[in-house]
Amino acid sequence: MSITVRAPAKINLHLGVGAPRADGFHPLVTVYQALGLCDDVTVTPSATWTLAVTVPDWMDADAVPAAGDNIVDAAARLLAEHHGIASQAAVSITKSIPVAGGMAGGSADAAAALVALDRLWELGTHDDDLLRIAAELGSDVPFALLGGTALGTGRGERVERLPDPTTWWWVVVPSAQGLSTPAVYRRFDELSPDTPAEPTDARAVLLALSTGNPEILAGALHNDLESAALDLRPDLADLLELGESSGALRGLVSGSGPTCVFLTPDADAARGVAARLSEHHDVVLVTNGPVAGAHAVSYG
Ligand code: C5P
Repeated sequence: MSITVRAPAKINLHLGVGAPRADGFHPLVTVYQALGLCDDVTVTPSATWTLAVTVPDWMDADAVPAAGDNIVDAAARLLAEHHGIASQAAVSITKSIPVAGGMAGGSADAAAALVALDRLWELGTHDDDLLRIAAELGSDVPFALLGGTALGTGRGERVERLPDPTTWWWVVVPSAQGLSTPAVYRRFDELSPDTPAEPTDARAVLLALSTGNPEILAGALHNDLESAALDLRPDLADLLELGESSGALRGLVSGSGPTCVFLTPDADAARGVAARLSEHHDVVLVTNGPVAGAHAVSYG
């Protein structure tokens, strides 16, 4: 018996960041969108706990946290503890989401593992408990369970689905070198010491989503972490400019970066932008969103 669960990468169409809270986390008002760039987690019964990772040829396998330190280890441990059982399974992660890229790849793996192990261990965990365990694992993990397009508040862990009937076409350019999320938040604090406690609201993006018009959405995209990411990685500014001069409506750093995403008018335009970016960058991906959150793709 084996179960495979797929979970999506996220981008932030709006990322409003407030001044750090007493617990060190930053209050967020964010609009997440799940993209069709996904990791798969496969689980099979085993008398022990093992974790293996497979990466595409363009990804550095050493950048993926090793077994024991991987967020999937923690996900299994928390789920097993919640039910008072032993954490035993053979788990294999097949990565497609850039590592340390600002697309919540680790969070996707954690969400997929929770859903897969819940099935394997026949636990029938209540959705509210699954979301609570997800939030404990990381700010983006509840969204990876939910998918679609959603408003995120709190430290990003409180998620609420948003209507988003349009298919939006994106070009994604990962970076060979990752960025540490805490380091980007630290740089944000240094660059913006007077940030108000209340993050900027997402009104413009919510309105743009309701129009279904990519040009309007392009004008509304907003990321408060972008200047911090660009400060740590000035080369990304050239990439954003190149994408926009190659036909993208707008380029944006994804979350804490360094992955850059480009909104395009439609699928054909996305392929055109990707072809031009490919002349300068080794890995250029075309995808769309919104797509579903963590869900089983093979069972049996
Ligand atoms: O929640 P998660 O484990 O993904 O967060 C990773 C790090 O990113 C945190 O330790 C913190 O430094 C930073 N972070 C933050 N405010 C948030 C989310 C993350 O400062 N809302």
